[in-house]
Amino acid sequence: MRFNFHVPTAVHFGIGVVKDLGKTVAPYGKKALLVYGGSSIKRNGVYDDVTASLKEAGIEWFELPGVEPNPKWNTVDKGWKICKENGVDYVIAAGGGSCVDCSKAIAAATAYDSSVLDLMRSHTPILKALPVFVVLTLAATGSEMDGGAVITDTINMEKGGVFGPALNPTVSFLDPSYTYTVPKHQTAAGTADIFAHTIENYFDTAKDTYFVDGVAESILRTCVKYGPIAVEDPTNEEARANLMWASPWAINGLIGCGRNEGWSLHPIQHPIGAWYDNTHGDGLAIIMPHWMRRVLNEDTLFKFVQYGVNVFGIDPALDPHEIAEKAIACTEDFLFNKLGIPRTLSEIGVDDKHLDEIAESAARGLARGFVPLTKEDVLEILKKAL
Ligand code: NZQ
Ligand code: ZN
Repeated sequence: MRFNFHVPTAVHFGIGVVKDLGKTVAPYGKKALLVYGGSSIKRNGVYDDVTASLKEAGIEWFELPGVEPNPKWNTVDKGWKICKENGVDYVIAAGGGSCVDCSKAIAAATAYDSSVLDLMRSHTPILKALPVFVVLTLAATGSEMDGGAVITDTINMEKGGVFGPALNPTVSFLDPSYTYTVPKHQTAAGTADIFAHTIENYFDTAKDTYFVDGVAESILRTCVKYGPIAVEDPTNEEARANLMWASPWAINGLIGCGRNEGWSLHPIQHPIGAWYDNTHGDGLAIIMPHWMRRVLNEDTLFKFVQYGVNVFGIDPALDPHEIAEKAIACTEDFLFNKLGIPRTLSEIGVDDKHLDEIAESAARGLARGFVPLTKEDVLEILKKAL
């Protein structure tokens, strides 16, 4: 086994931690850009908590409101210009993954003095950026503790982004009570995203990964146990806290240690998101069982058996093929019955007009997946999922 692992983000976890935001950011300078989405942080009190803490510490802040889900490159550029014109010292994201990603991309664009579109298209590894602080309001993407920012290029109709070690947030404030107001369908989609990040790592060709497989199984069981509770009982602190702490570990590199890390679901979902602007976790959930059936074969059977037994508690004495089938059926039951995610792409607004472009784009990322897939394979998955 051989890997590099480094997560430089500090985490302040628990109810009320945002009180410390102002004094935490103060040593980094006196001018902040506060980035947020629609009106959710104004309705649920997060905006008041954040700004009270900044005021108390004497921080001046500028604002970029209106960051859209699946953030667009031109929104990032608006934030970059605010930073340039006002000599902003750091960026504070208050919201879900879209706000966090937009903030990271602004931080990079400012340091490179360049439109994010140029950074994305040149695949520049991001080695410098303004410090980014995160006040998370939705457990889903893990962006609060990783070095990536997913941004939509509306000119090429691609979801790409910027990646690099400078994009890891400096400090992330994770208050589970801030997720109590996340609507049912976003709670379900966020849980599916955490689950999908873990599946991407877990279904891997490396076979000597006992330790990280165990961590991954724990994250998957956390989603299966607490996702449906959070959907039904939104203010359940135990459920919200466990999901919020599972989220970053699904993607921050720990469970990828020692693996080949060929992801498969995200390369298919990202072009779907670019064309149809739908909810990221929904697309991943809908594709997942179809992808599982496509990659199940005699070579991969062992992993489905391990998954079925250790995540869903299926009887290990059963025939391995039966365990694998049951494991996929349990996955469907979890995603569609327990979380209530729609079963088909049509239900989330996808039609058959761009399947070819989506499959073409997805296939570029799938040559080194768990089971390498071609454009034709992806088309087959998409048609079944439609
Ligand atoms: O805009 P507001 O009003 O805040 O409403 C948001 C938005 O409508 C709402 N919401 C968030 N927190 C809430 C809340 N509503 C009520 N109460 C709260 N506490 O939820 C909606 C969705 O928000 P968004 O930030 O878009 O969701 P998510 O966290 O799922 O982020 C999705 C984005 O992250 C990218 C996706 O591609 C997508 O663009 N990803 C980023 C990754 C990364 N950086 O590592 C990895 C992921 O795989 C993913 O690709
Ligand atoms: Zn994801």
